[in-house]
Amino acid sequence: EKHQSVEPFLQGKKVLISAGPTHEKIDPVRFFTNHSSGKMGFALAEAAAKFGAEVTLVTGPTSLNIGSNKIKRIDVISAEDMYEVMHQYFLTSDIVIKAAAVADYTPKLVYEEKMKKQPGNLQIEMKRTKDILLSLGEIKTHQYLVGFAAETNNSIEYGLNKLEKKHLDAIVINDISTEGAGFGGDTNIVTYVNKTQKREEIELASKKEIAEKILRFIDRDMKDEKH
Ligand code: CTP
Ligand code: CA
Repeated sequence: EKHQSVEPFLQGKKVLISAGPTHEKIDPVRFFTNHSSGKMGFALAEAAAKFGAEVTLVTGPTSLNIGSNKIKRIDVISAEDMYEVMHQYFLTSDIVIKAAAVADYTPKLVYEEKMKKQPGNLQIEMKRTKDILLSLGEIKTHQYLVGFAAETNNSIEYGLNKLEKKHLDAIVINDISTEGAGFGGDTNIVTYVNKTQKREEIELASKKEIAEKILRFIDRDMKDEKH
């Protein structure tokens, strides 16, 4: 990288980010999960640190390492764990970004011993997890709260619904059915929409570049609100 100085426009801001999937345990050897490499959330954490923020990254299980030793990383496993840690840090945060792919369901019963396979089909009863983002939206005071929406169809419509229902300040919508967007890869294509419904299309780019753009939009919108 070039020796260019970066404006530390997030200096003095506490940024809380969640990343990765969650694992919902069935028994000691099995779990349910969602597709998510964690790369978008990690890119956001690294970009926020680069722009001067004090960053806490709450991540579900991923194989990623964080490059910066300035980032406080907290590893969690399940949606319930992520809920607890996000609430623990929420009140003292200025910007909160939920890039995690949280499981919507978790097994009703967890078996303490490995379930032995049986002839025929298996049915597992699942219950809903808590909606972490919604729960934060309901208690937020000064925090700038940003969600993600990964959709396969009608992505803008579904994304705007989530923006409103979860009391968000902005949402980052990505259509995972588009080539170059979504899970696993190093690139993404997203639409950032703030609560005044102003839309910013971010074209195909690395997750790092997209993370930096998202943070610039957040900073712009936080400054606009103060006027
Ligand atoms: N989210 C969350 N807790 C959950 C489920 C989702 O905090 N239990 C957050 C995600 O981290 C993301 C946003 O809500 O920022 C949208 O997640 P998404 O899965 O797209 O939406 P859902 O509300 O779960 O609706 P659905 O999966 O039915 O589209
Ligand atoms: Ca979901």
